Formats: sequence, C-alpha cells, structure tokens
Amino acid sequence: MPDDIHYYEPSQGHGLPHDPFNAIVGPRPIGWISSQDEHGRLNLAPYSFFNAFNYVPPIIGFSSIGRKDSLNNIEKTGEFAWNLATRPLAEQMNQSCAAVAPEVDEFALSGLTPVASRVIAVPRVLESPVSFECKVTQIIQLQGVDKHPVPSWLILGEVVAVHIAKALLKDGVYDTAAAQPILRGGGPADYFEIGHEAIFKMFRPR
Ligand SMILES: Cc1cc2nc3c(=O)[nH]c(=O)nc-3n(C[C@H](O)[C@H](O)[C@H](O)COP(=O)(O)O)c2cc1C
Repeated sequence: MPDDIHYYEPSQGHGLPHDPFNAIVGPRPIGWISSQDEHGRLNLAPYSFFNAFNYVPPIIGFSSIGRKDSLNNIEKTGEFAWNLATRPLAEQMNQSCAAVAPEVDEFALSGLTPVASRVIAVPRVLESPVSFECKVTQIIQLQGVDKHPVPSWLILGEVVAVHIAKALLKDGVYDTAAAQPILRGGGPADYFEIGHEAIFKMFRPR
C-alpha cells in the first residue's frame, strides 16, 4: 500500500476523526422536499442524498436514511414537491430539518409560505424560485452487497410540473448560478454556494 494513500474498507471503519464519505461525494444539491400526510398536515425537510436521474420523463430521487416523516407521507399520498434551496433561504432550509413530531409543520417553523401546486395536492415553498411537482414512481428499500435490507429508502418521482421564477431565465435560458443554489459538503456544517465565477465550459468530443 503506498504511504501517501489512506486506504480503508468501510465495513471495517474509516480510521479518521470524521467519515469522509459525504465530504468526498460533494458538494451535493439539496432536495428540499415538501409533503403532506393523509390529513393534509404539511411537512418540509432537506435531503442531500438527492439528485436527478432521468431526462424524459424527468425523474428525481432522494434517500431517507431511516424512516422519516417525508417517506411516511409520500408512501401514503404518492406525491411530493421539490423546492430549490438558495443562499437567501439557507437559514430557513436549515430550520426545516429540525427533528420534530410528524404533526409539526416545518413551513410554519421555518417562517415559509406554502403555496398551492397546480397538479399535485402538496404545496410548494412560495419563497423558493424553482419548484417541481412530483408523483412517486418507485420507493426502493436499499440493501447491502450481502442482500440484507438496510433501513434506508430511495424515493423516486416523476416531475409532472415545473415552476421557475422568470428572473432566472436569461433570453429563455435557465441561469443556474443566478439562482444562488446552496450545496451540502461534509462534516457537521459545510455548505457551498456557487456564482458565475465558478463556471467553466467544456464541450463533448465529436
Ligand atoms: C442539508 C441537509 C441534508 C440532509 N440530507 C438528508 C438525507 O439525504 N437523508 C436523510 O435521511 N436525512 C437528511 N437530513 C436530515 C433530515 O432533514 C432530518 O432528519 C429531518 O428531520 C427529516 O424530516 P422529516 O422527518 O420531516 O422527513 C439532512 C439535513 C440537512 C440539514
């Protein structure tokens, strides 16, 4: 083993003060997920084990590490909304992750405004400049290589409606940096913000 490489097998522990896994796989976009239970009680929470997985139809997904309110709600209703977490909304996003009872509405807790969606019953975050209305396509319980299920669930949904603040469309082209998305790094508190200075362009080989 070369001296300059820290090697480990996760099942045996990482041997470091902090698990580097999600600092390495980062910064990650944030799935800021609104959902509601069968009585219409609202829920909002951030999930950074989140990404987009397909273009047509557009499919996004996030992973619930443990059985959480969002998973329970989405299993019951089959719907959720995704809201873009931005630098101006960072504090509210953070407040919405509080471990509170299922009946507590994190919109109210975080000082955010629920606004009716068009296609689904679940409201989206008014203050967020971009939202997706989603209908669940699959909920997959994850398993290890030993085929044993682990208490984590990947929730996938088709994006059935999209809301974009027109200020983010420059000549009709969505301006990613202008939206000031925030991204999650590792450790207890690391986030990244991006601006136009972070862009470089590279076209695929012909
Ligand atoms: C930025 C950020 C990212 C998070 N990512 C995840 C994640 O990917 N999966 C997860 O299970 N919890 C994640 N959490 C923790 C949940 O947000 C937290 O457990 C929350 O209370 C779950 O809410 P719910 O029970 O209303 O669904 C994250 C928290 C923060 C602040």
